[in-house]
Amino acid sequence: MLNSEFTIYWTVDEANGVIDLAAKVQNNGWVAFGPGKGRMVGTDPVIGFINGGQLFIFDYSISAQQLCVGGQGVCMDTVLGGTDDVQQASGVFENGYTQIKWRRRLDTGDSHDIPIVKGLMDVSFAYHPDLKALTQHLTTTRGTAKINFFTGEDNEEESSAQGLIASAVVAIILLEVSLF
Ligand code: HEM
Repeated sequence: MLNSEFTIYWTVDEANGVIDLAAKVQNNGWVAFGPGKGRMVGTDPVIGFINGGQLFIFDYSISAQQLCVGGQGVCMDTVLGGTDDVQQASGVFENGYTQIKWRRRLDTGDSHDIPIVKGLMDVSFAYHPDLKALTQHLTTTRGTAKINFFTGEDNEEESSAQGLIASAVVAIILLEVSLF
């Protein structure tokens, strides 16, 4: 759980070099999550939302705290000359929750992506309560944490002061199977 409204689930398939991720967020707007540098700038997020029952989900990079203008800001990797490395995406909005699932390679080979490696990694997340087009989040709907994707360990103390709640991430991994 990244805050009281945002839970991230994942399973790593090391043999095949992929990670399956799922975000379950109590909102009806856009949802973003990805490895980063402990702040917004430098994050390699996937951003998705459900609009009219249809899923929109893309691979982004963040170089500035703004919408993408001239290649600076929250930009799709494809706009930057990179590749969209979101695979096998699915998503629903149901019972007040946006739930999106996707797969990516641990190391996509795209210079606009941050490889998922062993050890504690900085991650950033953000969402908007109801807007389905990418816009600035609220100060209460963004934050950072540290996650070890391979062991399920997380680090509450290093997390930003956004009401982050420590949780049994290992238990969440087991629950992932029954999420959808
Ligand atoms: C176009 C979309 C976005 C805009 C315009 C935007 C803008 C901003 C602004 C102005 C701030 C400073 C105010 C504050 O503290 O809330 C901020 C902070 C932050 N944003 Fe965003 N943001 C966007 C998307 C995202 C996304 C997609 C993520 C995560 C995946 C994110 C993560 C953060 C984090 C962690 C902070 C606080 C730490 C920091 O200042 O670096 N933001 N954002």
